[in-house]
Amino acid sequence: MLHRRNVGLLSVLLFASASAFVEELDNSFMKTKAKDEIWLITFYAPWCTMCKHLDPVWHQIGSELKSLGSPVNVGQSDATVNNDLSKEFRVRNYPAILMLKKGVKYNYSGPRTKEGILDFADRIGGPLVRSLYSLQLFQHAMSRHNILIVYVGATSQLKENFTSAAEELIVHTYFFSCSRDALPKNVSLPSLPAVVIFKDGTFVIYNEERDGDLKMWVNRERFPNYSKIDSYTLYAMGESGKLVVLAVVQEKILCEQSLRYKALVERVAADHREAYNRNFYFGFMEGSDYINGLVMSEVTMPTFIMLNLSNDGYFLPPGALETEQHLLDFLDGVLDGSIQCQGGNGVGQRVRRIIYDVKVTLTPIFSQAPLLGCALFGLPLTIIATLCYLCCRVQPTVNDDDDQGIALLAPSLQHRKKIRNKKSD
Ligand SMILES: *[C@@H]1O[C@H](CO)[C@@H](O)[C@H](O)[C@H]1NC(C)=O
Ligand SMILES: *[C@@H]1O[C@H](CO)[C@@H](O)[C@H](O)[C@H]1NC(C)=O
Ligand SMILES: *[C@@H]1O[C@H](CO)[C@@H](O)[C@H](O)[C@H]1NC(C)=O
Ligand SMILES: *[C@@H]1O[C@H](CO)[C@@H](O)[C@H](O)[C@H]1NC(C)=O
Ligand SMILES: *[C@@H]1O[C@H](CO)[C@@H](O)[C@H](O)[C@H]1NC(C)=O
Repeated sequence: MLHRRNVGLLSVLLFASASAFVEELDNSFMKTKAKDEIWLITFYAPWCTMCKHLDPVWHQIGSELKSLGSPVNVGQSDATVNNDLSKEFRVRNYPAILMLKKGVKYNYSGPRTKEGILDFADRIGGPLVRSLYSLQLFQHAMSRHNILIVYVGATSQLKENFTSAAEELIVHTYFFSCSRDALPKNVSLPSLPAVVIFKDGTFVIYNEERDGDLKMWVNRERFPNYSKIDSYTLYAMGESGKLVVLAVVQEKILCEQSLRYKALVERVAADHREAYNRNFYFGFMEGSDYINGLVMSEVTMPTFIMLNLSNDGYFLPPGALETEQHLLDFLDGVLDGSIQCQGGNGVGQRVRRIIYDVKVTLTPIFSQAPLLGCALFGLPLTIIATLCYLCCRVQPTVNDDDDQGIALLAPSLQHRKKIRNKKSD
């Protein structure tokens, strides 16, 4: 039993050490850090609300990594004060999350959650390609990850290509290697070496002739055939070039129709995998904010929609989708061009989207406090000025992801912008 005073002392110590797990970094950081140290760093700005939300999470991450004995050091830096350091890391948006290992910097682009960031730290902090020495290790890895990207065989040119794909894609997913013996007997590989992705209870084998560049193939195939999709996932899927088929459902309690819609998409993803998985990702999205922003109106929930992330385009089913056949007809209609793409990222669309985002932002102000709303925004000049300001800011060539400019707008805008910026790079 601990004496009461000791408990007090202990908690003081714990508190003090918890904050000591996150180091405040300044411009001298790159000179003073030891060469082989691994760092997880967030750059913040004092005025950024998202940074304030991240702060407690960041300290938990610091203490958790320490208690796990991780080699990853955790730091944070005020980017508005430490200009040189934030330039070195090419910080453009807040909070920016990056890792530094052996002089290489890695960008984090997933959700700002403890789990997401810890996973990132684990991925970058460990070996680039992890060896699975036995069947047990393979099965353990299978139980922990819903996707396993594995190189099978001895050293080869393919292994070099695999490693170089890993260097770039490790920010998104783990890479493994093993010998033939470490795989279950029922996995039959026509030849070695091979690159295999295990997912959805089955596996796909890379074929250079058919699949093209290995890195692009991994990037296309690294999502399960059916999953929950949020705006971060969509952003990541944007590079795959596939269309995304979504059931859009309520956020918490699902009505019967929502459950049916989800099940329909899941069934088509599983039953027609061979026919469609080259062109489509399937999933469901909870909440309609993102989709409303894309479509520029309130969609009725639940609903189906298909997205082309390459150009911000979308496809809506021509009629009600109640059966598997209806959904298949919808997919075929898009593939054969008989269903027209809507939206897109043309100039007209962009202007309409800006107007929509401003409207969505201003409507609650007017409906909750009409007088204040008028005082603030009543003058048409103000609106025009706002529009002009936004027009200038939302140019894809100007990479301006800081939330200073867009905090005002609907949250979904930021992600759409990211997808667009990515594409126009
Ligand atoms: C991280 O992403 C930003 C864009 O959001 C980019 O400008 C920067 O160059 C990237 N940094 C690294 C180290 O890749
Ligand atoms: C490795 O990649 C290069 C080009 O990036 C390609 O020409 C070569 O065929 C690849 N080798 C194998 C074995 O995949
Ligand atoms: C191989 O067999 C195991 C059970 O022993 C099973 O769980 C797994 O799904 C099978 N894998 C394939 C690719 O058939
Ligand atoms: C993905 O497809 C496979 C078969 O093609 C199926 O067995 C599996 O259940 C599907 N996964 C999900 C999550 O629907
Ligand atoms: C999706 O957008 C890209 C880029 O504009 C385009 O090349 C592609 O054909 C579109 N896909 C479909 C199915 O419309």
